[in-house]
Order: sequence, then C-alpha cells, then structure tokens
Amino acid sequence: MGEIDKPAVTQAESVSGKPRRRGCAGHCARFWWAYLIALACIVVLVVPLVLLVGIPNLAQQKLDAAVLSIDGIVVTNTQAQNMTMAINSTIRSDGQVHATFEPFQGVMYLEDLQPHTPFAKIDFPETDSDALVLINVTQTLQIENVEALTVFNTWLLANESLKVTVEGNTNVHVRGISRAYPVTFKKTVDIPGLRMLQGIIVNQTFINATATEGDNFRGQVYIPNHSVVAFELGNCTFHNYLLGKEVGTVFIDNMTLWPGMNNYTMRASISQSDVINVMGQRPYCDEAKGVLPFEIGGKSVVNHGQALPYFANALASANQTITIDIGGTLKRDYDLTIPCAGES
Ligand SMILES: *[C@@H]1O[C@H](CO)[C@@H](O)[C@H](O)[C@H]1NC(C)=O
Ligand SMILES: *[C@@H]1O[C@H](CO)[C@@H](O)[C@H](O)[C@H]1NC(C)=O
Ligand SMILES: *[C@@H]1O[C@H](CO)[C@@H](O)[C@H](O)[C@H]1NC(C)=O
Ligand SMILES: *[C@@H]1O[C@H](CO)[C@@H](O)[C@H](O)[C@H]1NC(C)=O
Ligand SMILES: *[C@@H]1O[C@H](CO)[C@@H](O)[C@H](O)[C@H]1NC(C)=O
Ligand SMILES: *[C@@H]1O[C@H](CO)[C@@H](O)[C@H](O)[C@H]1NC(C)=O
Ligand SMILES: *[C@@H]1O[C@H](CO)[C@@H](O)[C@H](O)[C@H]1NC(C)=O
Ligand SMILES: *[C@@H]1O[C@H](CO)[C@@H](O)[C@H](O)[C@H]1NC(C)=O
Ligand SMILES: *[C@@H]1O[C@H](CO)[C@@H](O)[C@H](O)[C@H]1NC(C)=O
Ligand SMILES: *[C@@H]1O[C@H](CO)[C@@H](O)[C@H](O)[C@H]1NC(C)=O
Ligand SMILES: *[C@@H]1O[C@H](CO)[C@@H](O)[C@H](O)[C@H]1NC(C)=O
Repeated sequence: MGEIDKPAVTQAESVSGKPRRRGCAGHCARFWWAYLIALACIVVLVVPLVLLVGIPNLAQQKLDAAVLSIDGIVVTNTQAQNMTMAINSTIRSDGQVHATFEPFQGVMYLEDLQPHTPFAKIDFPETDSDALVLINVTQTLQIENVEALTVFNTWLLANESLKVTVEGNTNVHVRGISRAYPVTFKKTVDIPGLRMLQGIIVNQTFINATATEGDNFRGQVYIPNHSVVAFELGNCTFHNYLLGKEVGTVFIDNMTLWPGMNNYTMRASISQSDVINVMGQRPYCDEAKGVLPFEIGGKSVVNHGQALPYFANALASANQTITIDIGGTLKRDYDLTIPCAGES
C-alpha cells in the first residue's frame, strides 16, 4: 500500500500549479471543517496573544522608547516635613500608538548611587501618548526620607550634572479595547547641577570699622544657578573661613535660588583682627591688593522658624570660595592701606 501511494505523492510534489489547486479544491471541500477548526484555533490563540502579550509588549516598548526631559523644578514653601514641588516635564515619543496611561505615583532616585533610595514621590496625572506631551505637576511633597533628600541636594549642589530616575507602575488603555494593561514607567534624566555655586561675586561692599561685634560687613552677593531648579531656602548662615581659620559668620536672608544669576544682600560678622592680620601677609599686602579668598560652608538654613537640615547639610558638605576686595573697600571708605607685616 505504501509502495503504491508513494509515487503519487512524489508526483503531486513535483508537478506545480494546476494539479495542486485541483487537489486543494477537493481537499478543501472535503476537509472544510478541519480548516474551520484551525481558523477557530488561530482566532482563539492568536487574538488573546495579541491582546495579552502583543499590545502590552508594544505599549511597554513604545513607553520605553519615549524620552522624558525635565524643563524646570520649583521647590517652595519648604518646611521640615514637607514642601511644595512643581515640575514641568516633557515626554517625546513617535506618537504612533494611541493609548492613555492611568495616573500613577512615581518615585525619584539618584541613578548613580546604590542602593537606589527614593527621595521623592511624584503623582503623575492621566496622560495620553501623543508625540509631545507636557506634564506639569504641582504637589505637596511629604519628606519621608530626609537622608535621601539631603544626598540628592548634595549631589545637585556639587555636580556638573546628575542622573535621576523616575519609576512607577501604571496601566495603559488602548483605544477600542476595554482591558487595561500593566506597564512600567522608568526613565532616567540628566539634570544640570549647581557646580558648587562656582562664580559667586560680592561687590558694593561696606565695612563698619568701628563695629567690633555684630554685623560689621555688608555687600551684594551674586550667586549663579547653573541648573533648572529653583529652591526656597529661607534664612541661611555660613561659616566664614580665611586661610583655613574660622573668622566669622555670613548671613543671607530670605534666600530663594532661581535658575540664572541671583542677587541678595549679605551681611557678616567678621573678626577684624583676623582679617587685618591676613591683609598684612604676602601676597595680600602686595600683588593681591587686599583681595582675600574667603571660604564659606553651610551652617544653618531656617525658613519661617523651621530648620531645614536637608538644605543645611547639603550646603555644609563642601566649602565655596568667595573672593572679596577688602583692600579696595578699606582704601575707598577709610583711605586705609595695610602694609606688609614688618615693613610699616
Ligand atoms: C512651568 O511653566 C509655566 C509656564 O511657562 C511657568 O509659569 C512655571 O513657572 C513653570 N514651572 C516650573 C516648575 O518650571
Ligand atoms: C507640612 O509640615 C508642617 C510642619 O512642618 C505641618 O504643619 C503642615 O501641616 C504640613 N503640611 C502638609 C500639607 O502636610
Ligand atoms: C507647562 O510647562 C511648559 C514649560 O515646560 C509651558 O510651556 C506650559 O505652558 C505649561 N503648561 C501649563 C498648563 O502650565
Ligand atoms: C556627585 O557629587 C557627589 C558629592 O560630591 C559625589 O559623591 C558623586 O560621586 C558625584 N556623582 C557624579 C555622578 O558625579
Ligand atoms: C556687581 O557684580 C555684578 C555681577 O557681576 C554686576 O552685574 C554689577 O554691575 C556689579 N555692581 C557694581 C556696583 O560693580
Ligand atoms: C557701625 O557700628 C557701630 C557700632 O555697632 C554703630 O553704632 C554704627 O551705627 C555703625 N555704622 C553704620 C554706618 O552702620
Ligand atoms: C544658571 O545660571 C548660569 C549662570 O548665571 C547661567 O549661565 C545659566 O544659563 C542658568 N541656567 C538657567 C537654566 O537659566
Ligand atoms: C571648609 O574649610 C574649613 C577651613 O579650611 C575646614 O575646616 C572645613 O573642614 C571645610 N569644610 C569642608 C566640608 O570641607
Ligand atoms: C525677609 O522677609 C521678611 C518677611 O517677609 C522681611 O521682613 C525682611 O525684610 C526680608 N529681609 C530681606 C533681607 O529681604
Ligand atoms: C542687586 O540688588 C541690589 C539691591 O537690591 C541693587 O542695588 C543692584 O543693582 C542689583 N544688581 C543687579 C545686577 O540686579
Ligand atoms: C529671616 O530672619 C528675619 C530676621 O530674623 C525675619 O524677619 C524673617 O522673617 C526671616 N525670614 C524667613 C524666610 O524665615
């Protein structure tokens, strides 16, 4: 039997076109029910595969391919336990899948610091998957982990740029399908840092030579903010060092740091004898013409009576250099020149 059938099969295989179609016509007619079952199987298997695996995978892929950028962060009403945080952000995608993402809570953490520890939780609103989506959020941020927030502020203050990851789980709704599919939103963004406030300038200086205690120095301080963040800090005080020795305290009241150049009135209580002593040393008494390299390091940050350690400790993590023209101020206001020690 096998020997009789075999050549027939070979023949059918070697002859193309007509005989085959004719064969199919008969075959298909006779086995229509098998085709129906196969089709039913395909519908039963493939459609759920598309719905259960295909769409969520596609939605996740599209979500992963989208790019998040942070356009601005404004932190106001800063208190010990909470603050108001506003974030303007943009999500760019190819916009080819029409989907809606449910509102969700995302955590933010420093990408380059292990273990990943959230310093903030952001409530994202419902979002459509258009090619360009602006998401502006304003919310009260409860400070759940002061240490993590302090580390974030320290990195923001010190670094040229820093990587922050925003991560959360949500559901996506695809148009025409009632089912919601779970997806993960995870994006890492580069945020410019404050670069240790490099480039601080103090001018319009005033020295009260007769005030032996209390505030005896005033000036205008210009603080650059190289980042896209704005903070309400409040009343800040700084240790003031000169050549490694603490010589007094600097005060900046009502300080809010905006992107760009910031201008505040500063006052300081400075040990005049320590400053005069350094003024008499080389090179300050000759080439440097009395321009002194002060250093300041954060001491306290108090906003409306509440101490804010997450800012104070970040500002205390490193010193910032401020050169102040003490020689020029003394010459201008008191016609005083401090000679090099031992040469008077
Ligand atoms: C967001 O953009 C609006 C409109 O340009 C602006 O008024 C607001 O200050 C921005 N907020 C932040 C947090 O950058
Ligand atoms: C924020 O914290 C302060 C205390 O630091 C508290 O009095 C206030 O009720 C809190 N506000 C919110 C919205 O949680
Ligand atoms: C959202 O922020 C962007 C700037 O990032 C601004 O152009 C837009 O007007 C803001 N929208 C609202 C409703 O504030
Ligand atoms: C950011 O600054 C912190 C504190 O100075 C430092 O420890 C960290 O290595 C810096 N990270 C990057 C990525 O530059
Ligand atoms: C003080 O410095 C700032 C910033 O460089 C400058 O814009 C301003 O004109 C200066 N003021 C005086 C009186 O020199
Ligand atoms: C300088 O300080 C003295 C003593 O504290 C004070 O009486 C005087 O008013 C001050 N002068 C100015 C111009 O601030
Ligand atoms: C932050 O300040 C620096 C120095 O003034 C400036 O060059 C930079 O453009 C500012 N950044 C923004 C976003 O305004
Ligand atoms: C700031 O400078 C002073 C004096 O040189 C030093 O004692 C202090 O440790 C420095 N602070 C930091 C955080 O480096
Ligand atoms: C700081 O704000 C308080 C109250 O808002 C005000 O009385 C004070 O004059 C301000 N100080 C400076 C230096 O702006
Ligand atoms: C900085 O503020 C002081 C006092 O408010 C003002 O005299 C000075 O012109 C300001 N400088 C700039 C560049 O805005
Ligand atoms: C800063 O201190 C001054 C004087 O003590 C006070 O009047 C002002 O309200 C304080 N500002 C803030 C923002 O706490």
